[in-house]
Amino acid sequence: MNFAGRTSSVRITVVITSVFTVAIAASAIGKSSSIPHFQTTGAATQLIVDGKPFLILGGELGNSTASSEESLQSVWPTLEALHLNTVLAPVYWEQLEPTEGKFDYTLVDSPIDQARAHHFKLVLLWFGVWKNSMSTYVPAWVKQDEKRFPRAEDQEGNRLDILSPFSQVTLETDETAFASLMRHLREKDSSRHTVLMVQAENEIGMLPKACDYSDLAKSAMNDAVPSQLLDQIKTSNPVDSAAAALWRQHGSPTSGNWTEVFGSDDAGAEVFMAWHYAQFIEALVKAGKAEYPLPMYVNVALNFPGKKPGQYPAGGAVPHLLDVWRAGARDLDAISPDVYFLDFGDWTAKYLAVGRPLFVPETMRTERAAANALFLIGAQNAIGFSPFAIESVPDWPNELLGQTYGLLGQLMPEIAQAQSEGNIYGLLPHVRADGTVDFSSQTIHIGDYILTVTFDGPSPAFPTTQPIADPAMRGRGLPTSGGLLYVTGPGEYTVIGTGVKIRHSADTEKVGLLSVDEWTCRNGRWSHYRWLNGDQTNQGREVHLYPGDLKMQRVKLYQF
Ligand code: DGJ
Repeated sequence: MNFAGRTSSVRITVVITSVFTVAIAASAIGKSSSIPHFQTTGAATQLIVDGKPFLILGGELGNSTASSEESLQSVWPTLEALHLNTVLAPVYWEQLEPTEGKFDYTLVDSPIDQARAHHFKLVLLWFGVWKNSMSTYVPAWVKQDEKRFPRAEDQEGNRLDILSPFSQVTLETDETAFASLMRHLREKDSSRHTVLMVQAENEIGMLPKACDYSDLAKSAMNDAVPSQLLDQIKTSNPVDSAAAALWRQHGSPTSGNWTEVFGSDDAGAEVFMAWHYAQFIEALVKAGKAEYPLPMYVNVALNFPGKKPGQYPAGGAVPHLLDVWRAGARDLDAISPDVYFLDFGDWTAKYLAVGRPLFVPETMRTERAAANALFLIGAQNAIGFSPFAIESVPDWPNELLGQTYGLLGQLMPEIAQAQSEGNIYGLLPHVRADGTVDFSSQTIHIGDYILTVTFDGPSPAFPTTQPIADPAMRGRGLPTSGGLLYVTGPGEYTVIGTGVKIRHSADTEKVGLLSVDEWTCRNGRWSHYRWLNGDQTNQGREVHLYPGDLKMQRVKLYQF
């Protein structure tokens, strides 16, 4: 029986979370509907590809995998088995421009051609001036010409293997190379849209010193702090913003040079670096978009709590510098955290607050990746998820991630609609930074219905006792439980996940299960498998996605 067939004694009206007025606001650049762009529709900003919302079910390749056509050829069977739809692949400046002004697009074309042949989309990563703080991907003619391309220096004048962001020549040379890449992408791909987004540089920031003290940098320190930044920090919360806190500590000046406004220690120096890195990226992104305005983002090496600037890449877009980056890099479409910490959702929440689309380009590829992906898409309207060194997955089984990507790929239109309607939820037990798990129940209100969600405990499959050196393998042994849930109609929802149990109630009436349909995957397609009742719903008391495999159930509720 459906809701319409109930008698008047049964409360049949279910107020589903309101459907937002569709408000389309294409990003300033990338307005053309024909190339991939961001669009805000109702409650979500989504990546639009060929006119439709697209979720990046991705994985990033290891750093050297795309450095030859032959090496790249080896990855596709694994990526196909994992049901990825998008691959994140580097483009290396040293191989793109081996001689100044002479561009070789072989290693741009090979990922595009191979991705097309295997039906994947691509996000290209520009390993230009900086990759993990360092400048090791610049061409030999840049590496060996320190006069033209000055290095950052520490306070004692020791040169670092990092090009100084204060050099206009370095910026212009990087811009020329990046613009040539984007021009080539326009020529090769603007009618096919294999390439969806481009990452500008990789994990920027100063290491192991917090600041560049080269002559160029020291001179810039004496410049006045731009009003654009001062205006921003006046409205920033000093609890979250290092710049706002330091500005207040120094008497909230309305003008002054960098040390006058923010102080001369490493904390102040980090604000100075953040602004100049952001401005460098702003110029780079503008130069690239002038050729082909694909969405562009930076990825961020996060700062483990308690670490000091320089112990992590200082001046990158870490949470306490996000306002500086927002003001300094306005044309950057997204600021994307590389999350290698166990308290995954806490970090992504900080980047959701930036107000730009949320994307996680790098994260752990453990068996917990599936739950994190579902949470990110369900709770935080992310546009995509991408574990690192994805082609290494055959080292260990990860059916969960493959099943999850396969199902999300199939349900993408429904999920995108639920995101824009604000009718989607993430289900994840809270994992603390130290890896302990809070198994407290969580509550979701859907109209009159109250859903109480609990999670199954850890699977003993993977021991956590041995130290794990590879950051992308942190968190082995944590529970794989988690999922997402979205409303499909009055009193109806679909839940996807593993190790999740849901009980239902309402303020004044009792709630029962009208029907629970289990779906399963056959030959790569998910479809209805069987009705669940009896023991499988604990005699009508709950919906349970048992731990282990990915499950999907379509649930209808009623009140009595
Ligand atoms: C983060 C970097 O962005 C990646 O390119 C890679 O070096 C990983 N770290 C390795 O863990």
